[in-house]
Amino acid sequence: MSPTELFPANNKRIPIDKPFIDQKPGTSGLRKSTRYFQQPHYLETFIEAILQTLPGIDGGTLIVGGDGRFWNRDSIDVIIKMAAAHGVQKIITTVDGILSTPAASHLIRTNNAVGGIILSASHNSGGVDGDFGVKINGSNGGPASESLTNQIYAATKTLDGYQIIETEQISLDKTGQYAIASMNIEVIDGIEDYIDLMQKIFDFDRISAFIKNDFLIAFDALHAVTGPYAKRLFEDLLGAPLGTVRNGKPLEDFGGGHPDPNLTYAKDLADLLLLGQEYAFGAACDGDGDRNMILGRNCFVNPSDSLAVLTANSDCVPAYSKGLLGVARSMPTSSAVDIVAKNIGIPCYETPTGWKFFGNLLDAGQITLCGEESFGTGSNHVREKDGLWAVLFWLQILASKQCSVKDLMKQHWTSFGRHYYSRHDYESISTEIANDLYKTVESKLPSLIGQSFGGRHVSLADNFVYKDPIDGSITRNQGLRIILDDGSRIVLRLSGTGTKGATLRVYLESYVSPKGHLEQDPQIALKELIVAIDSFAEITKRTGMLKPTVIT
Ligand code: G1P
Ligand code: ZN
Repeated sequence: MSPTELFPANNKRIPIDKPFIDQKPGTSGLRKSTRYFQQPHYLETFIEAILQTLPGIDGGTLIVGGDGRFWNRDSIDVIIKMAAAHGVQKIITTVDGILSTPAASHLIRTNNAVGGIILSASHNSGGVDGDFGVKINGSNGGPASESLTNQIYAATKTLDGYQIIETEQISLDKTGQYAIASMNIEVIDGIEDYIDLMQKIFDFDRISAFIKNDFLIAFDALHAVTGPYAKRLFEDLLGAPLGTVRNGKPLEDFGGGHPDPNLTYAKDLADLLLLGQEYAFGAACDGDGDRNMILGRNCFVNPSDSLAVLTANSDCVPAYSKGLLGVARSMPTSSAVDIVAKNIGIPCYETPTGWKFFGNLLDAGQITLCGEESFGTGSNHVREKDGLWAVLFWLQILASKQCSVKDLMKQHWTSFGRHYYSRHDYESISTEIANDLYKTVESKLPSLIGQSFGGRHVSLADNFVYKDPIDGSITRNQGLRIILDDGSRIVLRLSGTGTKGATLRVYLESYVSPKGHLEQDPQIALKELIVAIDSFAEITKRTGMLKPTVIT
């Protein structure tokens, strides 16, 4: 590293007229259109509230980076200058400000940082006409707790100014060390630490030998943060051919696409695997690298099934070969993992949507693996979901079983039965229509119990309430559930992360035992439930939408 370069500093207070952060930050921080975020003093107001609230800021270490979207670099500059004005002792950031969410979580943990600020709107589009976001992570490396986000939001209401140091912009072009006032800034590579962690978890030699033996893989970084990590992992270390990583250069607008690894937004990769014969394995990650999609030749792996497969085969991975403490899934995620957990005799927890609920269980040593239906899987190695980790986990299982993705799925269903599963998203609905639909369905739930629904009978219908087994806290209103007498489930939720109007998510699940029909198209297997929920919730009638915007 170069010797420390000292920057002159002039601490300044900038007054603001009125507090104007108009939305409580959620699990994923504050997410808005880029233009909204770029209003004068908006970002600074939010950062001021974070720096006034996060415990240990004075004298502490902070991790800062982002997914490379438009305004990443300028925002890091603002955070550095404001952190220096608030007595932060050290900022660790990365070359070009590129830092994936799981890599940030790891850096927070290994550097005993007080937390991290990650600039990302995850899988939302980027660019000046796209979205921008600020995520806050706590000292455990996970998303800020509800009480912390509440305090930050409360702080935004009373601010009448912010502190910032006026100085020139430090360079993030290469690694280096700098100082502004009494704060040190380390610009690190950002990729190495994460790769080291992966090498401690997986057997790279085994994966490498497997993929070099005629098992062609394709990885789509969707022009987002995972490109540089994936190139180093797959091409440099595991010896996959150059070009294995597609769209590997992070671009400020993600090349105009949505960095969302699903069949709609990662269609090129999906076509390659589902229509072509050349590749044996395909994977993609989202904007900030915490989500993953897994594909085999002619085979899409449903994320709920993915969690179940990882759990059932965790003994293939060196780091988990001694057994799992337990597993957890979010409520809308299918119960495929529950059956596996029961079979291997470990606890299985059902939590509300969002990674922070897993954090408590991971910190308390109750679980090793966890996941969500929304293409998120992770373990106790960090406190965020981790896209590339999941891809390596899959490759490690396939290398150990020496089989194709499709064969592994067939074997899994033959052992445990299949949870047919699909999520139907209705995007950009007017907020009023969505709220009204949701409230009406909620009020009609009690009358459903015992009634026939989609050819079965309703055994439970409620709004999911979670009691945290670690701290006893209660979280209400986490989604409307209709549970049928054969274990099938329909769940309705309104998205907490969309930025345009409201998004209604309908989750559908139906179980077939190992002796049943295991190879149907999920949309056909779930047909009765799809028709029943549309009629009960009046989705088409109220929204005017004849079909969902995205079907997963
Ligand atoms: C979505 C997903 C959820 C995930 C969150 C953050 O939230 O559904 O599982 O934790 O993004 O990545 P939603 O928009 O449904 O509130
Ligand atoms: Zn993400």
